[in-house]
Amino acid sequence: MSKEVRRAAEILGRGGLVAFPTETVYGLGADASSEKAIARLYKVKGRPADHPVIVHFASSSEAFTWASEVPREAKLLAERFWPGPLTLILKRSDQAKDFVTGGQPSVGLRVPSHPIARDLLKEFGKPIAAPSANRFGRVSPTTAAHVREDLGADVDLVLEGGPSEVGIESTIVDLSGGAAVLLRPGKISKDDLQKIISLGRAGASPRHSGGMDRHYAPRTPARLVPTHELDREISKLKARAAVLAFSRPDERVDFWLRMPREPAAYAQKLYAALRELDDAKCDAILIEAPPAESAWEAVLDRLRKATA
Ligand code: TXA
Ligand code: MG
Repeated sequence: MSKEVRRAAEILGRGGLVAFPTETVYGLGADASSEKAIARLYKVKGRPADHPVIVHFASSSEAFTWASEVPREAKLLAERFWPGPLTLILKRSDQAKDFVTGGQPSVGLRVPSHPIARDLLKEFGKPIAAPSANRFGRVSPTTAAHVREDLGADVDLVLEGGPSEVGIESTIVDLSGGAAVLLRPGKISKDDLQKIISLGRAGASPRHSGGMDRHYAPRTPARLVPTHELDREISKLKARAAVLAFSRPDERVDFWLRMPREPAAYAQKLYAALRELDDAKCDAILIEAPPAESAWEAVLDRLRKATA
């Protein structure tokens, strides 16, 4: 256990805020059982009080004590994917208070796999509530430097863990109603889930900020462009533009970022790329659309939100 992790656990114990790496994105952590700590977390995030946060645990057995009912599907998914980039929404037990669930009867539970997140959870000995460590409406941070840029002195400590391996937020499955519903795609895809459980259709799903349009938005207006229209769109450009594409740079474009053709590698780089495009201070961002294939589902979801 590193000295930094021990310090982080002390800060959490005093009601402070610690940003820490997870395998998906960096989280902004607070003691999930402390109303005061959570109030500060919401204030720093700029997040409305009725939006729930995900609670992180060191093990599935601990996580399930925050649920009043653990359906068979939840156990199967936990066995297969925890620790890892999956969040389960279950009916809450009385451990989960209104101040972490946004007043909803359900709670979001996650057991992360990143070694520093796991060390911190063990050292702190209690669950940690952690939304992504960005301000409300900005893209999630995938490096400690992103967190510092967004939150500055509002966070008491940022644990350094290098760039996040997955790069996009956890897959969220809602098991608090009848059928299992995929609320947010992630590295664990619909196909991965369907090898283990069956998924129902999304109906009146509970409130979740990831479901809101423009949640993962860069500041510069951004558009998704199909590959076959990219050249024409570039030729029509009047203002300074930044492009995110698979192909080589086009000299007519001021700022060009090339992305990998493989979905996992693309996801890993996505949020850093969106930040870079934004920082290029252009008037418009064009993003070449990835193929409409299931392997790209999670990336496409984030790109649609960034361009909504
Ligand atoms: O990968 C992740 O999940 C990261 C890392 C830090 O763990 N966390 C994350 O948290 O993305 P956040 O708060 O930025 O996004 C959590 C999503 C939100 O859309 C939230 O509304 C939803 O999960 N959520 C949490 N609890 C919920 C509940 N009880 N019912 C429905 N949605 C819920
Ligand atoms: Mg977030």
